[in-house]
Amino acid sequence: MFIYLCATLVSASSWTARTYPKEQVDIWTQRLGPVSDVNSEFASLDSVTMDDTESNDVDFDARTRWPGFISDSRDPGMCCGLYAFAAASMATDRLAIHGVATMVVSPQHMISCGTTCRGCKSCSVYETADNLKSIGVISESCFPYVSERGRVPQCPANCQNGSQISPIKPKYVYREFTVKDDVYANGPVVFIMNIFPSFNRYSSGIYYPASTERPMGSEPVVIVGWGTDGDSEYYIVKCFRGVLFGERGYARVRKESKLWAGSGFGVEFEQ
Ligand SMILES: *[C@@H]1O[C@H](CO)[C@@H](O)[C@H](O)[C@H]1NC(C)=O
Repeated sequence: MFIYLCATLVSASSWTARTYPKEQVDIWTQRLGPVSDVNSEFASLDSVTMDDTESNDVDFDARTRWPGFISDSRDPGMCCGLYAFAAASMATDRLAIHGVATMVVSPQHMISCGTTCRGCKSCSVYETADNLKSIGVISESCFPYVSERGRVPQCPANCQNGSQISPIKPKYVYREFTVKDDVYANGPVVFIMNIFPSFNRYSSGIYYPASTERPMGSEPVVIVGWGTDGDSEYYIVKCFRGVLFGERGYARVRKESKLWAGSGFGVEFEQ
């Protein structure tokens, strides 16, 4: 029965599975936020649209459009701080793309200093966007990540080396956008993906869950591009599961509405 199910799963979809260590899968599962209902009031408040209007490229990948400017996937460890990693990753990439600063943005800053939501827990898109707007971003070298075991240090008064903290404040943090247009023009964007059990076995290819699967929760990812595979379209997403997950930390995920909660946010910095 088990073999039959696996064979069906792999042949019915255009992705390959692999078995990750159980301890790793347990951590991924424990870190999930609530399932995002595409029909919920919360999601419908966001004017994010999944359709492209101007950016009609059939394929787009920020990693080839802006070589060397897209940061690798990081893994928060046993801290449910994916919201801060997603925000920091998007900010790192966009600061580089727009020539504002070359630095790895500190996720610890938002985990310790977030105003609307902080700590090793799941924060919503609204709360994370609000945090980014109010505290801005600082570098990883100023405040390195230390929460991988769930310990959350207090918001510090100074950088690790004693120098003054001087955050870069965003010009805009926005939750209304069209995914493809925004990625095409501005760079990677944070989006919420519903996670189905089979995603914890994703190795490569164009992922989509079996029709019988139910979502277990959600996690923030960063959309870096898109493509088409036969009749189906997919997004290329950076997951916050480290570079050993999927395609070097990335996954290609079908544009199926049950996977996408329809909510996310972008950031723009003063150039
Ligand atoms: C201290 O760290 C900050 C942030 O990484 C850096 O900008 C600054 O140059 C450092 N100062 C010294 C004296 O090393």
